[in-house]
Amino acid sequence: MTIRKVLRAGVPSLRESSERYPEGKVGSKPHQRLLDDMFETMRDYAGVGLAAPQVQENVRLLVYEIRETERYNSLDETVPPTVMVNPSIVERADETTADWEGCLSLPDLRGKVPRSDWIDVEYLDKGGNQTKRRIEGFEARVVQHETDHLKGTLFVDRMESLESLCFFDEYQRFHDEEG
Ligand code: NI
Repeated sequence: MTIRKVLRAGVPSLRESSERYPEGKVGSKPHQRLLDDMFETMRDYAGVGLAAPQVQENVRLLVYEIRETERYNSLDETVPPTVMVNPSIVERADETTADWEGCLSLPDLRGKVPRSDWIDVEYLDKGGNQTKRRIEGFEARVVQHETDHLKGTLFVDRMESLESLCFFDEYQRFHDEEG
């Protein structure tokens, strides 16, 4: 496994739409190696989710694992390591909630982003099984954030106002408990 460099905002490829992941490659050695690298990189950077374009692979692939890290220390849910190949949000709640997000490609920044309260997602799991699932809460936020990366969209694009945009230190000092 290799810890990859996470691209930061400003790298043009982060703003491009990613290609569909070739389904025939799911489960292959290179596929497994890329997933291993993505999990290793995500954990090393203390993130809860990572999309392939962030490690310079412009394919529709994302991973996440929701647990407390030094960047996320007030979570009330955990989700085991999850892989989504060619994810597509096919339905979503009309209701949205604005809450704090960060991104490894915008290190040290936090901002409040409105996201749908639940989503229905279709994807291939890491074994290549076609899956459709309703996801809600913080996990739905993470999946909306990561699928945005596959279209070249960053969380700041989704903020209704930049007023809440802040640095991580100030977030912890002034906003960590407000939810
Ligand atoms: Ni991100």
